[in-house]
Amino acid sequence: MSEQRFKRYTITSALPYANGPLHIGHLAGCYIPSDIYVRYLRSQGRDVAYVCGSDEHGVAITIKAKNEGISPQEVVDRYHEMMKSSFQEFGISFDHYSRTSAKIHHETAAQLFLELYEKGEFVEQVTEQYYDQEAQQFLADRYIEGTCPKCGYEHAYGDQCEKCGSSLSPTDLINPTSKLSGSVPVLKETKHWFLDLGRYTSFLKKWILEDHKEDWKNNVLGQCRSWLEAGEGLQPRSMTRDMDWGIPVPLKEAEGKVLYVWFDAPIGYISSTKEWALAKGVDWEPYWKDKDTKLVHFIGKDNIVFHCITFPAILKTHGEFILPENVPANEFLNLEGDKISTSRNWAVWLHEYLEEFPGKQDVLRYVLTANAPETKDNDFTWKDFQARNNSELVAIYGNFVNRAVVLTHKYFGGTVPEKKELSPFDQETLDAAAAFPGKVAESLERFRFREALALMMDFARLGNKYLADTEPWKTIKTDKERTATILNVALNIAADLCVLSAPFLPHTALKLSRMLDLPERGWGDIAKGDLLLSGHQINETSLLFEKIEDDQVEAQVNKLLDTKKSNEKKVTKAAPMKEIISFDDFARLDMRIVTILEAEKVKKSKKLLKLQVDTGLGKRTVLSGIAEFFEPEDLVGRQVTMLLNLAPRKMMGVLSEGMVLMAEAEDGSYKLLQPHEGTTPGAQIS
Ligand code: 2FM
Ligand code: ZN
Repeated sequence: MSEQRFKRYTITSALPYANGPLHIGHLAGCYIPSDIYVRYLRSQGRDVAYVCGSDEHGVAITIKAKNEGISPQEVVDRYHEMMKSSFQEFGISFDHYSRTSAKIHHETAAQLFLELYEKGEFVEQVTEQYYDQEAQQFLADRYIEGTCPKCGYEHAYGDQCEKCGSSLSPTDLINPTSKLSGSVPVLKETKHWFLDLGRYTSFLKKWILEDHKEDWKNNVLGQCRSWLEAGEGLQPRSMTRDMDWGIPVPLKEAEGKVLYVWFDAPIGYISSTKEWALAKGVDWEPYWKDKDTKLVHFIGKDNIVFHCITFPAILKTHGEFILPENVPANEFLNLEGDKISTSRNWAVWLHEYLEEFPGKQDVLRYVLTANAPETKDNDFTWKDFQARNNSELVAIYGNFVNRAVVLTHKYFGGTVPEKKELSPFDQETLDAAAAFPGKVAESLERFRFREALALMMDFARLGNKYLADTEPWKTIKTDKERTATILNVALNIAADLCVLSAPFLPHTALKLSRMLDLPERGWGDIAKGDLLLSGHQINETSLLFEKIEDDQVEAQVNKLLDTKKSNEKKVTKAAPMKEIISFDDFARLDMRIVTILEAEKVKKSKKLLKLQVDTGLGKRTVLSGIAEFFEPEDLVGRQVTMLLNLAPRKMMGVLSEGMVLMAEAEDGSYKLLQPHEGTTPGAQIS
């Protein structure tokens, strides 16, 4: 479809679950690409509503609340604010960032459900669903884990396998277990409202696989094809859940049930648009209902089924809404060769990055775009981060702008000098430059952000090469007029660069526009003529990018190594249980609390300490292998646990009469077993 067809744009990016902080995978997956696209559209003067918000329902939230021992509301309140602020810091320029707990959203989602219900779109079904008898609760989706029947991944969820992307039903899982209690769930009857997706198959096939076969990304088409052409066809999906957290199903007979999070979340795009329109005093409806509107959903690959199949089926069958023109989903970003994982803390967290690299938001935006997982999973490495910063942003973009500005100050007092006769090389450079806005735009319109970014950097390279080849620092000695022309040309390339790079590097572009004292200019202004006219006064130079040193990168790599080590320890399994003993066996052990009276190192032994203890029955000498973990003076006066009736043993020439009991930690160190408060020496342990 030609872009001229569209009067306005509704751009959405996936509503992130408000169950944890944001990391680089989020940014790379959909927020940076959507922001670049939107900033570009605005620069073209298009009418855009760019909406998002926190996804605050579903088991992602309740599981987090349970793990942390706080309420779901506390979870979403905490992370909603945190995510919103990270987005702001990174310049993700939503027109509106809402949340699905908002009243307007509850109303919008409930109303849409009712409208579909009244149209007879739901199939009511009493089905058997997994129920955790220990927790006395039905187990929705992510409360169940098991082996994916498609790829064998052992931690697939009840609704989806994150490894192969398959959409699943809980009963598809092999060896299901409840994440609530760890028990094996049983099947129990419950009534739910299903969307019979099979009804929409032929429409979806035509709409996606025929109408959009040219303009949708291959990874998206591939996933859609695998669902639409699967032998068993699209299965009915329940749009309600047995849970107490979410939007109540607006039907009398559905007490205690809520809307499925994947029913309500995409409707969050509509509610967010409504909220935005209300605040702005415009009508929200054209943004969702007018055929002149281009709707684009930016998402990560795990969300494809919901945005290409389920939500469009809902929108289509409802009848009043437009469908997305495109769903440019990205694949996943890995970190240093490993899958990003919140639970394993294998991530670069945005709030930590902001503290550790203050003012360097654009560097991360740049690296994540240059390496975006557009067509396949990709890897983020700190080495690459450093290299791209130092040899691209600093050495090309920064160096070019800095030289143009500094030399203008040095030779012309900061005034844009006059452009006189152009040399053939000047003309060649300007002709080459003139082609860039169109080329970058074309890549952006096709959602090829890596390509667009590389072109933007080629543009900076062109400017940098122009100065290197024309050498104004030499011409100034003999020909001021020639130098003036060179710097005029260079400054105008820098001004164009400011406009072209703004979608990718908004903070940098702002700095540069201040440096050049360039008023806000759009994409189309570049072609109209020079953005900087001679006589215009520019401001002092300021550094756009700084070198990232080896030690900064090493610190990050070491941080990840520490994470890896601590994860390895966590997976260390507890030793298997020893064989069962009788109570009589246990009763034969004489274990007591004793007080350490003296402690000293044993000569020639690294491990042993010689302890004098008060057993309540008299003093005893005990040798204990804890010298590596305790200083003798730290032990005196402490009460510990001791096995009194262990046969005496001679070690290093000393007779040890009993054994001080210890717990061996994962790292091999020993921990004393102390009573929680002081007690009489000799107190028996039973
Ligand atoms: O995967 C996720 O993080 C979901 N919260 C995305 C929802 S996208 C949209 F439907 F709201
Ligand atoms: Zn799988």
